[in-house]
Amino acid sequence: MSEVTYPMVRQRPFDPPDEATELRQQAAMHRMTYGDGHRGWLVTRYSAARAILAHPHFSNRPDLVHPALPAQVERVKMQREGKMPAGVFLRMDPPDHTRYRKLLTGQFTVRRMKALESRIEEIANACLDDMAAAGGPVDLVQTFALPIPSLVICELLGVPYADRAQFQENSKLLINLETKAEESIAAIGRVMTYLYGLIRRKREEPADDLLSGLIEGGELDDEELTGVSFLLLLAGHETTANMLGLGTYALLTNPAQLAAMRDDPSVVDNGVEELLRYLTIIHVGPVRTALEDVEIEGNLIKAGESVAFHLPAANRDPSRFPDGDQLDVTRPAGGHLTFGHGIHQCLGQQLARAEMRIAYPALLRRFPGLRLAVTPEEVPMRSDMGIYGVHRLPVTW
Ligand code: HEM
Repeated sequence: MSEVTYPMVRQRPFDPPDEATELRQQAAMHRMTYGDGHRGWLVTRYSAARAILAHPHFSNRPDLVHPALPAQVERVKMQREGKMPAGVFLRMDPPDHTRYRKLLTGQFTVRRMKALESRIEEIANACLDDMAAAGGPVDLVQTFALPIPSLVICELLGVPYADRAQFQENSKLLINLETKAEESIAAIGRVMTYLYGLIRRKREEPADDLLSGLIEGGELDDEELTGVSFLLLLAGHETTANMLGLGTYALLTNPAQLAAMRDDPSVVDNGVEELLRYLTIIHVGPVRTALEDVEIEGNLIKAGESVAFHLPAANRDPSRFPDGDQLDVTRPAGGHLTFGHGIHQCLGQQLARAEMRIAYPALLRRFPGLRLAVTPEEVPMRSDMGIYGVHRLPVTW
């Protein structure tokens, strides 16, 4: 069995690192040295990844999970020292996780999602109007990929219009990778303070939004509500933004796929699924830790050992997605692991899908001549970040 060290280097912008592909060809799981020296595992095949993500004997608690990357060691130390805000249920196990998840699921109603869809259309069109008015070239990340998810989260949480510019400014700093550590800590503080204040205001004047709905339920205190809102903001913003940026880049370099997404509305739903699978922007982790000894596909994972998932490799596994290295917006791409699997499977996936189903065709139809304003090699990739994508995408039309 081969020994693996993280992180791995990509050779091409849309493909998993060749090393990950080779590992998947060799075996489902591999021993790997983590950022803090822990000897754990890396999973590269689809079936093993799915089995472990759905297995009840694996934990996502920060005091148990080891940091896969050296760069994550400091953050995990902070989490272990109890600096994790209340309400961040992604990092909880049942029954705590179950309690939050149930409360939140009750707020992601079909009615609320439908109402958000028409707002997403308006938001996307307003971004496109601004782009048209500015004239090319523009950075599509700043003009399109970032503002859409950011404004949609404002809608979901019920951030008032008057506060949006300031809210967006702070959350942009939070997720901007070029932000320095001190600046980002300060921005976290401002966002948390803002969210706490927003919750206090909503207690006085409830409206038809998710936060008011949670307040009305009466189960969570203000600190827990602040943590939940913060998780939604972080989980829902950077992910969708990177899908919009990287997805557009992938389409611009695959003209036949782009034309299908632009011209054939019947392709769009599946095309979004395929872009999610093909690009798998969650390229480091998730990570879980075994609570008991567990055997998976002939490998004994001992209690206390961490398991990291290489989702880009798993989503190209030929036993599940034949010819998976090709981008094909017409292939049945459902069942991919980009939203995770099991109890923590992405809570916001329907909202994320709605944003992409609306935003990609709107962009491609408004600017039929959309093209890169630099050579493909000049597009800066987010190889160093937990969520993959493009730092900038200069385009013109
Ligand atoms: C393309 C966009 C998105 C991707 C690829 C994505 C991916 C993921 C993944 C992989 C997980 C599971 C992590 C794990 O198992 O450790 C997750 C969880 C989560 N996501 Fe998303 N996400 C996206 C958009 C969103 C949006 C728009 C929201 C909210 C508005 C959201 C809210 C959440 C929350 C709250 C969780 C934690 C669920 C739990 O622990 O029960 N996500 N997401």
